[in-house]
Amino acid sequence: MKSIILIGFMGAGKTTISKQVAEILDCQRVDMDDVLVERIGSISEYFEKYGEASFRQHETALLKEAVHQKSVIATGGGVIMQEENQKVLSDKMVVYLKADPEILIDRIRKDKENIRPNATHKKDSEIKNLFYAREKMYEKLARLTVDTSNRCPKEIAAEIIQHVA
Ligand code: S3P
Repeated sequence: MKSIILIGFMGAGKTTISKQVAEILDCQRVDMDDVLVERIGSISEYFEKYGEASFRQHETALLKEAVHQKSVIATGGGVIMQEENQKVLSDKMVVYLKADPEILIDRIRKDKENIRPNATHKKDSEIKNLFYAREKMYEKLARLTVDTSNRCPKEIAAEIIQHVA
């Protein structure tokens, strides 16, 4: 099995879907945000103390490590903006989990446990602008695009597996 890399905006369901896919395929899973929290502590506090650019360096280093393991990888929503990462992802099995910005914003607002420095305390208009700035790159890197707007995780995972298996 090739690694399956899930990309998409915050709230797209990368973590949830990666768990389902890894369970069905009985394979390893890497949640990049979780690994980064183990390495650098809270992401929102890290952004505040050291800035986003420094966070991106950790994220870029981790992506390079993660793609060498056969696994399902849940990336962070901003991983696709670094040119270095775009190169790494360009020949991989990348799946874009897509949803309407209104739905993404609603999920982000409801997720009280996960404070996202690029979204949680931002206005809806700012989040939408970030989404539109990234949308083309998600689409460009994807081998497969799956709409997650109004579907259950099991159904989405099954569609991914059908395409990659
Ligand atoms: C970010 C997304 C987050 C996390 C960090 C930055 C972003 O991951 O990596 O807060 O800029 O889109 P999720 O997409 O898993 O929320």
